[in-house]
Amino acid sequence: MTAVRDAFGRSLRNLRVSVTDRCNLRCQYCMPEEEYVWLPREEILHFEEVSRLVDVFITLGVDKVRLTGGEPLLRRDLPELIKLLAAKPALRDLALTTNGVLLAEQAEALKVAGLGRVTVSLDTLSPERFTALTRRSTHDRVLEGIAAVTRIGFTGTKIDTVVIRGVNDDELADLIEFGKRVPAEVRFIEYMDVGGATRWSWDRVMSRAQMLETLERRYGRIEPVIEHSTAPADRFRLPDGTIFGIISSTTAPFCADCDRSRLTADGMWYLCLYALAGIDLREPLRAGASADELCALITGKWAARRDRGAEERLATRDHTPLIQIGQLRQDPHLEMHTRGG
Ligand code: GTP
Ligand code: 5AD
Ligand code: SF4
Repeated sequence: MTAVRDAFGRSLRNLRVSVTDRCNLRCQYCMPEEEYVWLPREEILHFEEVSRLVDVFITLGVDKVRLTGGEPLLRRDLPELIKLLAAKPALRDLALTTNGVLLAEQAEALKVAGLGRVTVSLDTLSPERFTALTRRSTHDRVLEGIAAVTRIGFTGTKIDTVVIRGVNDDELADLIEFGKRVPAEVRFIEYMDVGGATRWSWDRVMSRAQMLETLERRYGRIEPVIEHSTAPADRFRLPDGTIFGIISSTTAPFCADCDRSRLTADGMWYLCLYALAGIDLREPLRAGASADELCALITGKWAARRDRGAEERLATRDHTPLIQIGQLRQDPHLEMHTRGG
């Protein structure tokens, strides 16, 4: 293995693989529009192609892969891809981020195929709020999906909640209590102005500091968990020992440690969630590039990486959404749901 470091000394260890840009929800913070331009079907990577690329990334130091979307469970035969990836001993962590709608019916097949753990997005415990937030009335199916994950024997389950002021900021403690029962570690995510979040504004962001203040009023003293990690979540402990996380991408970005990159379903590789341009890996792959050639391409791009999108965004103190709707329509790769959450 030839571990590679970027211009700021950050290694390449964590690859987020989007398997489809499609989604069966329309969350306000991610896909608020009525119409979207989808990636052309013939450009979507086959599972064998994803597996070949993952092999190349492994030789450069990647040991964590997370399958994302859009909604990854919409990709037909996903367990087949999981089997290919689970057979790679170098991957010490194989996880999936899902909205949970199709999880109850697929959880068992995912586990059998070798998936390591599951993170489910759940922003509210109220079915009415869920419908208002996602424009679909499938809240009960998400809750069934979360229950199925535990029943089938997955451990390390996480629940991701994007906190939006005036929408679900009064549910933090209720979600932690729900997480205890699952059991799952709940992580609160600050509302980010990423591509696709065309309704974003600063006054809708609830900061990490405000979340902690709200939770301390309910639970008393909250201790930070002291640990060194490159994960986006900072973890905290309640007086009863319950652990939860906060992902403060907006007010306290963590770019300095970022070891993540993203592969879209059509084989574009993005070095940052905020990057405006990606690197086309599908074209060389389909043109017959060898593993060594792909390795050289990826190494060169990573070595030159200077991205720290969230930090730069915070520094500009811009109060408007990152990318306007017209530009998103012209290049769907700018969308969060295309580059994998
Ligand atoms: P583990 O810590 O391995 O469980 O996974 P994770 O937290 O990296 O993955 P998950 O998909 O649960 O990520 C949670 C959320 O964190 C994402 O949906 C994003 O909102 C945010 N996030 C993940 N990666 C990045 C990143 O590279 N930059 C920024 N700014 N936010 C990120
Ligand atoms: N802000 C924060 N997180 C977002 N996600 C998508 N859009 C945003 C946004 N604007 C992430 C969340 C969510 C998953 C589907 O994608 O983690 O749970
Ligand atoms: Fe990494 Fe870019 Fe996210 Fe910063 S904004 S943590 S550099 S992906």
